[in-house]
Formats: sequence, C-alpha cells, structure tokens
Amino acid sequence: MLERTLERKILHVSRMGRPASKKTKKKTVKKEEKTKACEDILPPSSLYHSFTTQETVELRKCLLTWYDKCKRNLPWRSLANTELDLDRRAYAVWVSEIMLQQTQVATVIDYYNRWMKTWPTLDDLASASLEEVNEKWSGLGYYSRGRRLQEGAKKVVTEFGGRMPRIAEELQKLLPGVGRYTAGAIASISYGQATGVVDGNVIRVLCRLRCIGANSGSPAVADKLWDLANHLVDPERPGDFNQAMMELGATVCTPKKPRCTECPLQSQCRAYEKVEADLTSAAANLTNRNPDPKSAAGDIEECDLAHGSCTLCLPSSDHWDRSLGVTNFPRKSAKKASRVEQTLTCVWQRRGQEEEPEYLLVQRPSSGLLAGMWEFPSMLLENKLTEKDGGLALGNYLQEVTGHVVPLNKLQYVGEVVHIFSHIHQTYLVYFLSTSRIEAVTINEELSECPASRWVSRNQFLEAAVSTAMKKILKLCERNNSSSNSTPGKRKRDGSVLQPPGRRIKIETENQRSIQSFFKPTNRK
Ligand code: ADE
Repeated sequence: MLERTLERKILHVSRMGRPASKKTKKKTVKKEEKTKACEDILPPSSLYHSFTTQETVELRKCLLTWYDKCKRNLPWRSLANTELDLDRRAYAVWVSEIMLQQTQVATVIDYYNRWMKTWPTLDDLASASLEEVNEKWSGLGYYSRGRRLQEGAKKVVTEFGGRMPRIAEELQKLLPGVGRYTAGAIASISYGQATGVVDGNVIRVLCRLRCIGANSGSPAVADKLWDLANHLVDPERPGDFNQAMMELGATVCTPKKPRCTECPLQSQCRAYEKVEADLTSAAANLTNRNPDPKSAAGDIEECDLAHGSCTLCLPSSDHWDRSLGVTNFPRKSAKKASRVEQTLTCVWQRRGQEEEPEYLLVQRPSSGLLAGMWEFPSMLLENKLTEKDGGLALGNYLQEVTGHVVPLNKLQYVGEVVHIFSHIHQTYLVYFLSTSRIEAVTINEELSECPASRWVSRNQFLEAAVSTAMKKILKLCERNNSSSNSTPGKRKRDGSVLQPPGRRIKIETENQRSIQSFFKPTNRK
C-alpha cells in the first residue's frame, strides 16, 4: 500500500515540467487562477527573475550538452550509473552527498572510496560502530555527518527492511541528517525524480543568471531559488541536470574569477549581460559619445518593478559595483562571528615496549562537538593565562585526571595551533611532556564525566578517530623535537606556530594551589 502511494507520488512529481494532458488542463487553469490570486498577496517579483518556457528548454539543452562533454569522472557518478539495485544506488549517492556537504570534491574522493570499500551496502554500515565511523571520517570535519549517516543506515535496515524511501519528501522526513537538498539530490540522481536541488553552487548560478541580488539567505530569495530549480530541472534527466548545475557552479561559475567565456549559459546570463552593458557604456563614456548605459548597450532588460520594491533585486542601499562584474551576485548575509576559544593541550609521550614513542589519548563525551572522538588531554580556558601559568594549570589538571604525579619541570610549552571549526575559532596552546614508561592512567572517577583513555603508537594515532586539529598538534610537537626544518615564531599555513626552542617551565610546587584557584577547568569543551 505504502509502495503504491509512493509510486503514485513519484509519477506525479516526475510529470512536473511536461505538457499537461487534456484531463489535467482544467485543473491547471484552476491552479493558475489560484496562483494569480496568491501573486496578488505575495510581495511582487518581476518576470525578469524567471525563465520563459523557451528559455527553459534552451537552458536545459545547453547545460546538458556541456555536462556530457565536460563532467568530471567521479566515483559516485560511476556507481550511480552502473548500480542496478535501487537501494544500493541510493545508498551510494547518499554517502557522496553527505560527504560533499561543506567539503571539496577533491578531498572527498579518497574518503568516499575507502568508505564504500569498507561498507559497500546499507547493511554493512548499519552494523558498524560509532568508533569505526569516526575513524573513517577522521579529517573530513563536521563529524556529526558520519554519525547521522550511520544512524540513518541502521534505521533503514531495522525499520524499513533495508528499503530506502523512494521520494524526496520521504527521504527528508525519515532519514536523520537528510535535509531538502540531500533528499532532492538522492531522489533525482538515484530514482530519476524530477525535483530540483539548491546548494551553494546552484544559488550562485541562479542568482547570476537572473540577477537576484537580495540577500540569498532571506526566505523570499530561498523560496524563489527552490521554485526556479524545480521549474528548470529537466524531467528527462533530472539527476544529470542537477549535477550539471552544481558542476557548473563548482568549475565555471565560481565564487571568484568565474570563467564566463567558457560558460554554456553565457547567452542567458543577466549578470553577464549587465557586465557587457557596463563595459559598452564605459567605452562610450571614454569616447564621450553616448553616456547612457541602456542605449549604449542596446536595450538591456531590467526588473520592471518600481525601484526598491522588488524582493529579489539588489537592495537600494547596495549598488552595482562595476569592479565586481558578475560576482556582484549573489549577496550573502553577514556571517555570524565565530566564538573565540583557547584550550590548553598536552601531548604526553612515553616510550613503548620497543622504545618507540606512544601518546596518551582521552575520549570526548558521546554528545556535543566532536562527539566520541579522541584527543590529547585538553582543558578549555576560561581566562587568559601566561605560558607558565598555563603549564601549571595543565599540569594540575593532568594530575587530577590521570592520577599520576606530573613532573612539571618537564612540561614544555611548544607553541600554538589555530583551528577553525564551523562556529569556533579555536587556539590550542600546546605543551609537550615526555616521561618514562607509565603503564596505565587511572582516569579520575570523581570527575563528572569520566573519559576513557589509552596509549597509542604514532601509527595508531594516525588511524584513530582524531580530528585534524590533533594531527596538526602532533605535527607541531614533531617539528619541535626535530627542530631542523622549522622557523620558530613564524605561523605556518596550517595555523601552527612553533615557539623558540628551550622554553621550559619551572614551576614551584607551592604556587600550584594559588594558580589552581584562578582558573576553573571546564573539563571538556
Ligand atoms: N556537489 C554536491 N553534490 C554534487 C554532485 N553530485 N555533483 C557535483 N557537485 C556536487
């Protein structure tokens, strides 16, 4: 029954964009009347920001011809084209789309191949542990994506008998971490549902094509972009069409330095038309012939709504900046400022059985930022501390947490590592401690959350569920220990700064209590 309903829905959606049959014509007329009535209430928007039927047909043709010739050969595309089983195909697309959120294609490829090799099916992923998922995701960032993917796979296997929902609406409703974009991408690419997608690349392409200059995060613009995407998507090849729009945004219609001369949609781009008109009028101005931009460029189309009343145009306060060209579009809302944090971190090294170095890792709580990931023992700072006081604070914290006497005179300040999380500007103040062999650490049970801990070799560390920030921290310590090819005091591209060598922290024990009193370890971030 559910299946029949789903299939009917698919049929309904995949008819979008095709000519209406006689039977549906009556309905369409009524719908148009309704739409007209709605338009009278909705804020006005001009045809200037839309596509006529003829423009739509032309755009589909130009875009898909270009895509067929220029598309990148990507592993998830091969899988989507060759996998006959719908659930396996949808799973393969789902993984790729989740990995591609906020991450460049070039970075994703290796992660994707490793992931699909380890868990080729939904069943395989459903039986993986969070630890294994975090290990595979290590370095990709935004770790909740991997966790939700695994939760979703588990849900499909246990609740839907391994069958993926077959339409975008259901995918979005039923799967954790699947929003409107991901649902549309899976449904169009895997099942051929004629539904559009809007991601950052598509926003840019559409805003330029139709000179949409209002804040692209505003509800009016977001609604318009989804309407355009759903209207434009080619019902014959929806998956390819959507991927072509994204591909165009990623490779040609780029945020900076777009390659307009290579663009298959140049002749339909209103932003490009504006640039050309601008150049023509500038040239006319130079020769002092015809200073009016409209007549200089030949009659270029403009939004026909009264100036300032269109919800999609550049706001009156923002004018067209000639030096920006097509990159006047899209306009973004101001980014929310990141939270600034400082964390003291200790790379505690001991010698292993064979004298090779081993490092102490503790596990983060199972919820919140970097849930369940491993890290060097760290404490979030509430007050700014000097290097020496930081060492002291960290030493006390380590002692409290691990139950070991920490030889504070061996604690060495190494430098700092800056890492930008989605909403946090994090500076790790890195200390290094090398001690003789310690068999185990006893994590203090009295702490509110008692983290697991373990010693790992360098290779185990690299394979573990640790964030990129931790890898940068270990790198900094290794640079400090080899000291040869590094310049102290100079910030590297990865955000790390090495302190000049030989900085040791001498700490008198009687200071420890007083120092302890002016910082408050918050335990975990
Ligand atoms: N970005 C996200 N998904 C994509 C896809 N399938 N093709 C190109 N770029 C993308």
